[in-house]
Amino acid sequence: MNYITQVQVNSEEEMRALGRQLVGDVASGDVVYLGGELGVGKTTLARAMITAWGYLGRIKSPSYGLIEVYPMPDGGQVAHLDLYRLEGGEALYDLGLESYLNGRTIVIIEWPERATGYLPDPNWQIHISDGHASGCQTAPDPDLRQVVIQSKRPLTKPDPQQPNR
Ligand SMILES: Nc1ncnc2c1ncn2[C@@H]1O[C@H](COP(=O)(O)OP(=O)(O)OP(=O)(O)O)[C@@H](O)[C@H]1O
Ligand SMILES: [Mg+2]
Repeated sequence: MNYITQVQVNSEEEMRALGRQLVGDVASGDVVYLGGELGVGKTTLARAMITAWGYLGRIKSPSYGLIEVYPMPDGGQVAHLDLYRLEGGEALYDLGLESYLNGRTIVIIEWPERATGYLPDPNWQIHISDGHASGCQTAPDPDLRQVVIQSKRPLTKPDPQQPNR
């Protein structure tokens, strides 16, 4: 990964704005790892991206089914995985992940560390943390997040601190 961008996100709406901004950079066939603790905002970001790519229906969290696949208006698709409940990396084969590694599907993976050694290398590694991770003593702002984006290509928008609205 050659590029690292850190973004402070102050609210859920700003997280959605960051998702809308990222869709211009994530390309067909890319694999996106989405890391961070339980409830930190991974699905919120993934949903914003899937909507911004043009999927108009409801986007479920894949927490139980582990994988949801969405057709896109351009003929491609997005596979959204949540591996928190995956029982061992071998179980990935049952999800049929391989069939989505076809260059036409964007693959977004929450909890990739549950399948270390079984997943394709990422083009993007996004990590979200909340105030608890910073070690500050006072009560952290419950909506504040730090997002670290590692990528093989630079982001086209140089200052993601000011996402498009
Ligand atoms: N800045 C923020 N960005 C994203 N979500 C936020 C933010 N502030 C508060 N929230 C809230 O945090 C929650 C995030 O839930 P979400 O399902 O996106 O987390 P997750 O990381 O996918 O969890 P899980 O690990 O269970 O999959 C939502 O209830 C959302 O309203
Ligand atoms: Mg989630």
